[in-house]
Amino acid sequence: MSDENSKIPKELTWYEKLSKKVESHALKLTIYTTIAILVGGAVEIPPFFMMGEVKKIDSVTPYAAPELAGRDVYQAEGCFYCHTQMIRPFKWETQRWDPNLAYGEAPYSKAGEYVYDHPFLWGSKRTGPDLSHESNIQPSAAWHAAHLINPREGGPKNSPMPAYPHLFLTPVDIDQTIANMGALQMIGVPYTAGDMQAARNNLMKECTQQDHINTKLALREMGVTDKADVDAALCKIGEAVPITKGDALVRYLLKMGRDTTQISMEEASPNVADASEAKNGK
Ligand code: HEC
Repeated sequence: MSDENSKIPKELTWYEKLSKKVESHALKLTIYTTIAILVGGAVEIPPFFMMGEVKKIDSVTPYAAPELAGRDVYQAEGCFYCHTQMIRPFKWETQRWDPNLAYGEAPYSKAGEYVYDHPFLWGSKRTGPDLSHESNIQPSAAWHAAHLINPREGGPKNSPMPAYPHLFLTPVDIDQTIANMGALQMIGVPYTAGDMQAARNNLMKECTQQDHINTKLALREMGVTDKADVDAALCKIGEAVPITKGDALVRYLLKMGRDTTQISMEEASPNVADASEAKNGK
């Protein structure tokens, strides 16, 4: 071994010499690596006991039924592979996501914003922009629908984001969403009995002109142009129908940052807003 060490050329830096010494010694390498992993593991334990100390933010409310259904779509479609939901405390991030600093002196994400997120959807890769305050940046429901149906038409021409037209042709699973609310209630999300009762109603909507626009855009995107087929897919104006997965996703996007930036649903998007939902959000 000492023979080998003497062969290390002089030009190596002290660090290279050290790593060469350690790496050429299997036992030493194993011991040092084990110590490093143990230290890394140990520092992850204290936060686990600090979870009860998360400062609640009063304006942050649990997800209303349609928003929760949208969150499920967000997870199922893997939106978090390309989008984060966390504003880090760097000037370039806080200014991108809160240009007026309306969010206070420290306009980065706080633990209290995530208290009803099970699981967290922070994400780790920003192929697309961070979506934490999306409702603030893009408050139009119609814009979001058009963008999801075809990001190249709704947004930049060269967007690499996949198109999701099928979401606007598929109704949400109402029973599944209500079951999810029950599960969240069990782990501490404060849904009231009223919220649970109202959920089924809130997952329905009155068919509007905007729904026709979305359905037509989605069908065109999927190559369905035959007039009879298109007409058959349109809901009857005024009729009560389940919201689509696309509607739910848009509602979820418009919930992002809404509680902390105080944008009201009514002002933000007359198309998706409905009073019962606002009540349910409490
Ligand atoms: C392959 C990566 C990728 C995936 C997957 C993806 N996106 Fe995107 N997204 C992007 C990129 C890149 C942009 C920026 C260009 C644009 O606006 O289309 C973007 C833009 C957006 C925007 C506009 C943000 C803004 O403020 O301009 C929203 C909203 C959005 N995505 C939502 C979603 C949702 C919801 C899903 C899942 C259904 C999703 N994205 C899936 C890459 C992705």
